[in-house]
Amino acid sequence: MRILVTGATGLIGTQLCSHLLSKGHFLNILTTRTTWQTNYEQTRVFQWSPQNAQIDHRALEGVNAIINLAGAKINQRWTTKNKRSILNSRIQSTRLLFDAVKQSKQKPHLINASAIGIYRSDFQRHYSESDAVFSNDFDGEVVRQWEEEAKQFEELSCKTTLLRIGLVLSIKGGAFVPLSLPTRWGLGAWFGNGKQWQSWIHIDDLVGVIDYCLQNQMEGCVNATAPNPVRQRDLIETIAKTVGAPQFFPGIPRFLMSITLGEMHKLVFDSIYAKPERLLDSRYPFEFPKLSACVADLIAKDK
Ligand SMILES: NC(=O)c1ccc[n+]([C@@H]2O[C@H](COP(=O)([O-])OP(=O)(O)OC[C@H]3O[C@@H](n4cnc5c(N)ncnc54)[C@H](OP(=O)(O)O)[C@@H]3O)[C@@H](O)[C@H]2O)c1
Repeated sequence: MRILVTGATGLIGTQLCSHLLSKGHFLNILTTRTTWQTNYEQTRVFQWSPQNAQIDHRALEGVNAIINLAGAKINQRWTTKNKRSILNSRIQSTRLLFDAVKQSKQKPHLINASAIGIYRSDFQRHYSESDAVFSNDFDGEVVRQWEEEAKQFEELSCKTTLLRIGLVLSIKGGAFVPLSLPTRWGLGAWFGNGKQWQSWIHIDDLVGVIDYCLQNQMEGCVNATAPNPVRQRDLIETIAKTVGAPQFFPGIPRFLMSITLGEMHKLVFDSIYAKPERLLDSRYPFEFPKLSACVADLIAKDK
């Protein structure tokens, strides 16, 4: 299969591309970087600039699927300028892909990144893909608009998957590194009372889920989370236990985080329990369904 990947140089994209290449797929990488290169023969690199509506249309040639991961980091201070960049980088890139597919002969299967941040924060409720209880906050609105943009591909008769990704745990980046580093030194702490639900997923499972959606042509929304979300407090305590570090700090108060991170602080206080119902129904074989094994694996790889 020839697969077009955007955001291929990021945390998820890097591991995903290695996996797809190891399975014998051919890749077309669409990047905003002008000097990025690859040593793999099965990979072609093309440039685009979503903000300037520029795309190398050759990137679409012979493509059976598109995996769209591109987007500016959400965990940067939510200033007006950064908010615009977080939203526009997702909307403009997805729209540019849509226009390019419309002009091409291809009808690729689109797998579009989305996030569980679309669900409204709730300490009790468990969300599955059929729940349409959406957040009105900035991040929820970004994800909702992004999904709407991606759904346009259905008009082109393209199979469309909206992958609502949870908190990706990896030693190469993302949330695990800043959470685990202080915890190793006995300085770990949760936020607030630590009772907020964290719907996490090991990066190996996420890559496996993307491949599974591709192979099984899954359409519609898919919660890409492990089957056993945990409270944030359990996440910190599990890391501390795995590295054998003491854990005695109380929760960091909300007002402190609000001063430090501004509006973006809500990301670490939100409580979202997202169940991967569709993956469980189709018996997706999670390698790391439980947090303890996931953390043990990541810590072992980090030695
Ligand atoms: N990691 C998580 O825990 C998580 C959870 C839920 C959802 N997601 C979503 O999944 C996607 C991939 O996540 P990730 O962690 O791999 O992200 P990442 O490491 O930040 O990588 C995102 C990639 O998007 C491209 N990009 C950055 N700014 C851009 C812009 N202004 N316009 C167009 N492209 C831009 C870059 O690729 P090039 O430099 O090659 O262009 C970058 O490598 C993101 O959209 C993210 O919102 C991630």
